[in-house]
Amino acid sequence: MMRSLIIGTGSHAPPRVIKNQDLERIVDTSDEWITSRTGIKERRIVDGETTNDIATKAAKSALKAAGVSPKEIDLIVVGTVTPEMLFPSTACFVQSHIGANRGIPAFDVSAACSGFLYALDVADKYIRTGIHKKALVIGVDLFSKIIDWKDRNTCVLFGDGAGAVVLSAEKGKRGILSTHIHADGHYWKTLYTPLAICSSPLHHKTPEHSYMKMQGNELFKIAVRTMGEACQEALDRNGLKAGDISLLIPHQANMRIIKATGERLGMPEEKIYINLDKYGNTSAGSIPLALDEAVKNGMVKSGDIILFAAFGGGLTWASALVRW
Ligand code: UT7
Repeated sequence: MMRSLIIGTGSHAPPRVIKNQDLERIVDTSDEWITSRTGIKERRIVDGETTNDIATKAAKSALKAAGVSPKEIDLIVVGTVTPEMLFPSTACFVQSHIGANRGIPAFDVSAACSGFLYALDVADKYIRTGIHKKALVIGVDLFSKIIDWKDRNTCVLFGDGAGAVVLSAEKGKRGILSTHIHADGHYWKTLYTPLAICSSPLHHKTPEHSYMKMQGNELFKIAVRTMGEACQEALDRNGLKAGDISLLIPHQANMRIIKATGERLGMPEEKIYINLDKYGNTSAGSIPLALDEAVKNGMVKSGDIILFAAFGGGLTWASALVRW
């Protein structure tokens, strides 16, 4: 049976660091509040770079790690809700910037913070059909462009970042074992950005009306439930128990959400990868950025079972189980 093997990872976080102390000068907040309520200490924010720039950098580093030429890539899928343009898609720009072949399919999927796992799900399904052999899957978001820097409820949570993986069609027991994607549009008001390009400008009375809106408490509870359910679904599908997992790489939104998800599953803390202290919530960039770090830190070895789980605007939630 054909599976998608992750043969290379890459990421890019902009070099400009914004610490909690820097935010104390912008809004009524404190390092103590942000650290204790979220676990975040600092985040990266672009300084002139665009979504296409950082997605391309992540893609190039993943290709290098995989030892794969851009000409070998036959599918590009990008998860993002902060594209540089309404169209062309970020994937089309990446195709051109990395020098991939003309004519291969390249498209974006919109699932907010679940965007990378949605993109992985789509690419995996194309590979399993035997149609595509080498796919580039990217998660990228620049939430610094859509948050209200005067709103302390949201501006302390997010950062910019991108991560990418190269998938190769291989036979054998290693690779993506299963992916699980879900959505419930009834909850859309818990997290959304009403920057409505295709509706009347009268819709937005002031620029503030177009920034991201969030019902943090409501979202917190749904996140713990859906991430837990998605993880359990992935385990059940593969006949595995939490004890079989080598590493859980969750969406990096809030330390308390991550810990609650781990507790629900009965996962020890040392088996949960956390880097949100350095990057905040980078939305679709979050999981592939964490994966790339974990790989580079030597925390992922051949044969390891890696579990990914995310939730985000939509609402959407997703998981994936991989034998490395
Ligand atoms: O990828 C999905 C993205 N979204 C999320 O992951 C959000 C999920 N939700 C959360 O992470 C948490 O709900 C938050 C971190 C957003 C908030 O934490 P909380 O423990 O749920 O706090 P809260 O909203 O109940 O607010 C507690 C207090 C409030 O003050 P009062 O009403 O008790 O006086 C807030 O006004 O904390 C206040 N507060 C702040 N204080 C200092 C809210 N934001 C801040 C802030 N600094 N940045």
